[in-house]
Amino acid sequence: MTTSPHPSSSVEIPGHGEVPRHVAIIMDGNGRWARRRRLPRIAGHKRGVEAVRATVKACAERGVGYLTLFAFSSENWRRPPDEVALLMQLFIAALENEVQKLHASGIRLKVIGERARFDRKIRALIAEGERLTAANAGLTLTIAANYGGRWDLLQALSRLARERPEAMRDPLREEALTPYLAMSYAPEPDLFIRTGGEQRVSNFLLWQMAYTELHFTDTLWPDFDAASLDAAIAWYAQRERRFGRTSEQLEEASRHPGRGSPLPVAGDA
Ligand code: IPE
Ligand code: IPE
Ligand code: MG
Repeated sequence: MTTSPHPSSSVEIPGHGEVPRHVAIIMDGNGRWARRRRLPRIAGHKRGVEAVRATVKACAERGVGYLTLFAFSSENWRRPPDEVALLMQLFIAALENEVQKLHASGIRLKVIGERARFDRKIRALIAEGERLTAANAGLTLTIAANYGGRWDLLQALSRLARERPEAMRDPLREEALTPYLAMSYAPEPDLFIRTGGEQRVSNFLLWQMAYTELHFTDTLWPDFDAASLDAAIAWYAQRERRFGRTSEQLEEASRHPGRGSPLPVAGDA
């Protein structure tokens, strides 16, 4: 049977410390950063790549295991064609220039999203970057490109139906579905950050963020740096993650570590 190394948080309560294991970021505000400087929007996207570099480095240094960056949503194709074209050029340049450096730093690169819509060159660069870095044991950097949370759920269900029709029974079990989600190799995000001031999820990781702590900052993505990351992590460290339990239960559990009871789930044997 296909199993996921990271059970979903509604089945098992994940352990967590002061530093999030998995940080997921909606990198928003590039266009506004540029407009404030009377620059074309693409200038903001270019500066955004520098913020990506700084954030990857800072996460690796702080011991974050997984960093997931929303680079292009399944809805971003609705933008003016020239902006989409420039974003694709930037993606190509980033893959061409950064993959070797990521590899040298021991970073594993993953890309999630529907690839069929990208041209051959981008698809080849993605495949090569993933192949080259596959065995690296450092930070896992996931780029979400042409990604949508609804697409992810639908592709997972489609693959489950195709590859394990016997598991497509009523009631469907979480453990059957989750190995087919695009990020089944990672634990669910502990900390979500959205820059740029909007407080919405914009079709990012819908299933996976069921119990993620949500941090919103007005900082525009090109201005995001190690200090911004530290502020978000400090905020995260103050959260009480209950996963449905009461504060009293958590206090009890911290007095008697190791005695924590697993979360009962309807339908469990
Ligand atoms: C995020 O910045 C980058 C992408 C969506 C590719 P935006 O381009 O959305 O910047 P704003 O929101 O217009 O400022
Ligand atoms: C979300 O930003 C997607 C990415 C950052 C890649 P958008 O700027 O596209 O989101 P909306 O349209 O404001 O919700
Ligand atoms: Mg935006």
